[in-house]
Amino acid sequence: MAYVTEQNLTDIVLERWEEIPDPRLRQIMEAAIKHLHAFVREIEPTGAEWFTAIDWLTRTGKMCTEKRQEFILASDVLGVSMLVDAINHRVPSGATPTTVEGPFHVADAPERDSGENMTEGAPGEPLFITGTVRGLEGKPLSGAVLDVWQTDGEGLYEAQRDVTGPWMRGLYHTGADGKYVIRTVAPIGYTIPMDGTVGELMKRTDISHMRPAHVHFQVTAPGYNGVVTHLFRDGDPYIETDVVYGVKKELIVDFERKPAGPAPTGEKVATPFNVVRYDFVLQQAEAGRLRGAA
Ligand code: BEZ
Ligand code: FE
Repeated sequence: MAYVTEQNLTDIVLERWEEIPDPRLRQIMEAAIKHLHAFVREIEPTGAEWFTAIDWLTRTGKMCTEKRQEFILASDVLGVSMLVDAINHRVPSGATPTTVEGPFHVADAPERDSGENMTEGAPGEPLFITGTVRGLEGKPLSGAVLDVWQTDGEGLYEAQRDVTGPWMRGLYHTGADGKYVIRTVAPIGYTIPMDGTVGELMKRTDISHMRPAHVHFQVTAPGYNGVVTHLFRDGDPYIETDVVYGVKKELIVDFERKPAGPAPTGEKVATPFNVVRYDFVLQQAEAGRLRGAA
């Protein structure tokens, strides 16, 4: 066995870590060691700098609870969450692309009738989102489910409001023609949580900590691959600088502003309102048996 020098250390460690029976874990550890050693060789940290990094990671871990996951937020702002999502959801052209789910999805959203208001009186300008859920082959999909969640018109999610009941979320179903209608309020852009270790790091940069206005969706239909995605408001000041890198061209939609009057639900709205039209396109499950397409 060779004794250690600065030059041979990486090779010695790599050789030791070959001793892993599970081939996938072996592959992962080999890449992790190679990249970590290359990083350290590139930046040549002082002992104090390395301790600062360990301390930041330790404090990040200590912040994580059932309700808050600071490591996921770190992965989000470094673009890693969107990269993992992209690798695992390679959809063909024409299918609705995916994004990260984010931390604000709450399971068991209330069932809503088509066109039902999901705001529970939340502030904001009325917004109607309407369109069709269809397969890539063009077939309108009846019985598709749209799980919808978003901030209110002041940029706050249910978890950030002092409310007990459901707030700004709901489960909508498509009809026989594949159509859906959602009544909500227009979301606005908001900041990611800045009171933790990720915020501490962001404050030492000139990078925006804002997300552009968006509505989250999880769309599922029997026999089709579901998608978790967002629709983003065209013209939002943060559309090109989303702190979690979620904005894909196909997901930018026009919030068409209308004067008071009849809405897509048929009801008369007394104030100006917005309409978004968007068709979700899902890939058939059989066709989707590509790598990681589940
Ligand atoms: C969100 O859109 O809800 C979100 C996603 C990633 C980090 C923070 C918020
Ligand atoms: Fe969000």
